[in-house]
Amino acid sequence: MEIRMKLCGGGFDLLAWRGFMYTIFILNFVFCCQLILLQPLVAATDAKSGDAAALFERVSQSIKMKKYSEALAELNSAIEADPALSEAYSHRASILRQICRYDESEESYKKFLELKPGNSAAEKELSQLHQAQSALNSANDLFDSGDYTKALEYIEKVVMVFSPACSKAKFLRARLLIATKDYSSAISETGYILKEDDDNLDALLLRGRAYYYLADHDVAIRHYQKGLRLDPEHVELKKAYFALKNLLKKTKSAEDNASKGKLRLAVEEYKAALALDPIHSAHNVHLHLGLCKVLVKLGRGKDALTSCTEVLDIDGDQVEALVQRGEAKLLVEDWEGAVADLKSAAEKSPQDMSVREVLMKAERSLKLSQRKDWYKILGISKTASMSEIKKAYKKLALQWHPDKNVDNREAAEAKFREIAAAYEVLGDEDKRTRYDSGEDIDEGMGMGGGGYNPFGGGGGGQQYTFHFEGGFPGGGGGFGGFHF
Ligand SMILES: *[C@@H]1O[C@H](CO)[C@@H](O)[C@H](O)[C@H]1NC(C)=O
Repeated sequence: MEIRMKLCGGGFDLLAWRGFMYTIFILNFVFCCQLILLQPLVAATDAKSGDAAALFERVSQSIKMKKYSEALAELNSAIEADPALSEAYSHRASILRQICRYDESEESYKKFLELKPGNSAAEKELSQLHQAQSALNSANDLFDSGDYTKALEYIEKVVMVFSPACSKAKFLRARLLIATKDYSSAISETGYILKEDDDNLDALLLRGRAYYYLADHDVAIRHYQKGLRLDPEHVELKKAYFALKNLLKKTKSAEDNASKGKLRLAVEEYKAALALDPIHSAHNVHLHLGLCKVLVKLGRGKDALTSCTEVLDIDGDQVEALVQRGEAKLLVEDWEGAVADLKSAAEKSPQDMSVREVLMKAERSLKLSQRKDWYKILGISKTASMSEIKKAYKKLALQWHPDKNVDNREAAEAKFREIAAAYEVLGDEDKRTRYDSGEDIDEGMGMGGGGYNPFGGGGGGQQYTFHFEGGFPGGGGGFGGFHF
């Protein structure tokens, strides 16, 4: 375990280790010289300072091994033996600060300053201690009030600068990293804790939770299970474990129902699964997509649109969700929206022929929607009979004849032209059939530019005349006074 720690510590630890070995070497050398040459001359005080040096060496070794309580025990007994051993107080204060036992640390600094009044290094460290204490308090308060980003700033100061061995602070940092969705950092932070104490239940819980939010569910389950083997009654671990199991069960049930074509059941199961943990985006993105597909199949365009958009809000590059939302938009007759979604799906996945097919379908629907609706212009239904068509045409032509609309002649002429164009198509069985089947028969007609012009005539000298006096031709009179 300790060897692994050193390897992971990288360059810094290696350097520190080298320095440490060097110190040991020098100390050994001095020690040997004392033994061999000076032994008879060694005075009581010298022995004492030699003891102290060895003591502090052991202490600093313990700290390197992160055996803080061992180091503290040594210092405490040294202080008991010699209450005037000032350096022991400052060492003790520094260790207590690192493990964030701030009140005891302050007491120890004060003892040191009683023995060495005005010592500037100790005064500086004491003020750093106060900063550490207040940073930890601020981080806790900000965590409680939900300001996670700010809390994280304070806790980093505590963990990185003042109290690197403060497990309270490390746990808070891990919680904050999860709250700010920085799951991989939470995994490393809890990894460090577990390296020192691999049975730490809170660290197992937090690490499991970080893996869970990354949708790495198997690894999450392994962490929860390990914790539960150590303490089967751990409330939070039990809760997390069963909640995850339940989510996976609901998800499977939704997917199975969907694949067996039980679409209505699948919708209910997807919704139930989504309700379990609304902030679990990494997993819910799949549930939303599954729901969106089922809703498209059911023809529920508006609901499908909502679900597909949820997917794209989480991951805007999901080609499948773009295609499905395109289909949903076709269902709600948002032709332009459908074309836009399908185009961006086709751009993201240029090889996918099925995407191209749906895109072409959407483009055709858009084009159809953009051509004039002759039925609507004549104010008749798509199933109108020929005589109904004629009747509607005559009535409208009469109403909009330019001669009868001298006050708004221009508008009336346009309207009149449109009515005539509608009749040109719908009044002809063959053209009407082709129009109904979506064929493109209205080249140049009504689609802007030169359009069909009942007034202009085609160079055949067909003069537009309109005789309309008295009774407009009813019944079999055909077009009566209309000459095109
Ligand atoms: C479909 O859903 C129901 C619950 O509504 C569930 O009991 C059933 O197991 C599911 N069917 C399949 C094939 O998963």
